[in-house]
Amino acid sequence: MHFQWYPGHMTKAKRAMQEDIKLIDVVIELVDARIPRSSKNPDIDELAKQKARVLLLNKSDMADAAVQGEWIRYYEQAGYLVLAVNAKKKNELKQINALIQEACKEKIERDRKRGILNRPVRAMIVGIPNVGKSTFINSFAGRACAKTGNKPGVTKGKQWIRLNKQVELLDTPGILWPKFEDQQVGQHLAFIGSIKDELIQSVDLALDLIEFLTKTYEGILNGHYNVQENLDSVDILRQLAINRGCIQKGNEPNYEKAAYLLLDDFRNAKLGRITIERPNER
Ligand code: G4P
Repeated sequence: MHFQWYPGHMTKAKRAMQEDIKLIDVVIELVDARIPRSSKNPDIDELAKQKARVLLLNKSDMADAAVQGEWIRYYEQAGYLVLAVNAKKKNELKQINALIQEACKEKIERDRKRGILNRPVRAMIVGIPNVGKSTFINSFAGRACAKTGNKPGVTKGKQWIRLNKQVELLDTPGILWPKFEDQQVGQHLAFIGSIKDELIQSVDLALDLIEFLTKTYEGILNGHYNVQENLDSVDILRQLAINRGCIQKGNEPNYEKAAYLLLDDFRNAKLGRITIERPNER
């Protein structure tokens, strides 16, 4: 689940993506609704240039609803068809289907003029690791799960799942790589738990999260841990450690344990629905 990218991985993923994209009409891109910028791979715009596009803000159940509205408008203005979803729930299928039809309407119209009626459009799910691709495919296709098998002219081994009369979905998602060169991207992916915790300093990360929360979601830390938010981040973490019994030998606060506690609570949405990124800030 946690990931790490090497240049070799990236080249391989990119090549696989280029091959799969040739087979489909519409790219359904999943991003994490809590970090809609950092969980989006900018190279996909180039890779999917000729294709219809749908963008899903996934894990919307964990994101701030008001900010989500801003992101939807932001990406709609950028030309995407956008929907906020929760891949664990199956009840959005109708809306997603409508969005796919809308995205593919030119192709459907072209087909119609040529006398081809009711040819399903072909879709594929893409996104960075851990964004919810497998969950999405299971929820939205699991039920239908009539695999159509290999088809003539289609690369051997590719399986298509018939979602309904209008849509076929490639059963393996396209894995995109995050834009790690950007430090802020790395930090935000670490916040949501998409980077191996051994690779990062959990205490530093928790301090960054404290700074963000006291600035953007005033009252949350006080409400959950009974800490004073006007202290500096290290002192807040110390109070949190003491209040939550994260104590080590010599009766000293255990910062690392407190850091994990905070990060876990945030990642499991125990602190409420929180969005890290805003459309108009960098
Ligand atoms: P991937 O294929 O893109 O790598 O992601 P995957 O589907 O494996 O999902 C990664 C984690 O995110 C899973 O949790 C999954 O349950 C969770 N997830 C996916 N979509 C949503 C969503 O819309 N809302 C919420 N709240 N969670 C979502 P996990 O901890 O790995 O497993 P588990 O908790 O399901 O056992």
